[in-house]
Amino acid sequence: MKVKAYSKINLTLDILNKRDDGFHTLKSVLVPISLYDSITVEKSGELSFSCDIPELRGDDNYCVRAAKLFFQKTGISGGAAIKLQKHIPYPAGLGGGSSDAAAVLNCLNALYDFPLTREELLAAGAAVGSDVPFCMAGVPSLCEGRGEILTHLDSIPKLYITVAIGGGRMPTSKAFAAYDESAVKPTDFTDKFVAALKNGDRRGMTSAMGNAFTDVCAKLCPETKEMRSRLRSCGAEAAILSGSGPSVFGVFAAKERSVAAAKDLRARGFFAVDCETLENVSQ
Ligand code: C5P
Repeated sequence: MKVKAYSKINLTLDILNKRDDGFHTLKSVLVPISLYDSITVEKSGELSFSCDIPELRGDDNYCVRAAKLFFQKTGISGGAAIKLQKHIPYPAGLGGGSSDAAAVLNCLNALYDFPLTREELLAAGAAVGSDVPFCMAGVPSLCEGRGEILTHLDSIPKLYITVAIGGGRMPTSKAFAAYDESAVKPTDFTDKFVAALKNGDRRGMTSAMGNAFTDVCAKLCPETKEMRSRLRSCGAEAAILSGSGPSVFGVFAAKERSVAAAKDLRARGFFAVDCETLENVSQ
């Protein structure tokens, strides 16, 4: 079966504290966007994995980790042939690897006649990565805990988005370590966003959008600041870092504007695509 593994953006991201297990307690609003990787999963005697990007072909790829965990949890002795076509930049804070893992788990469960319940599948996803449960749910959500405690937010208006990223890359663990060493003040973007959402206050929502990693990431990847400023010059209502960066996104009221902004950023040498938020991408 061939499926689309959709990317996500964090409209808000707050870091509440560091836990004893080394992870951080987060509060974040995540939405799926229309930028995706393509994945084919077929039943096979053994596990094989191929990807159009050579550096992503290793056993540490989230697709392989997800598949190994599926066979371990179910005790099924079969395998799978997994092919990944990558379109989502990585590592970027766009949930590409997590979405790929979610797609593999969903496909394997369907191909092998649903040996895992929904809850068991979500638990397997959380063991692969913090954003995997959100990617499996596939709907706009308030994500808490490590990111795996989900509350569906069903009234976020459609947003036209320009996603951009420069040449710098920053693994998630490095971003959290830099955050821990910094003296960044606690943020409360998410509570403000959820309050504005309840009141149907679109302007309140866009002004509440923000990300606790913004300053830390700007120090390590100064181009994030430049891209956000450029998005604002192109008329973005908000220009925000996604996840732990270093991708950024602009929020626009109309598609033409997000298309024009993507063109503007590409002309300056950045990777940039226009896309939109999606209401439901669950498989
Ligand atoms: O779960 P995931 O694989 O996305 O996490 C990658 C790294 O990011 C973790 O090893 C951890 O260092 C950090 N992380 C964290 N707190 C979270 C999520 C991730 O500290 N809630």
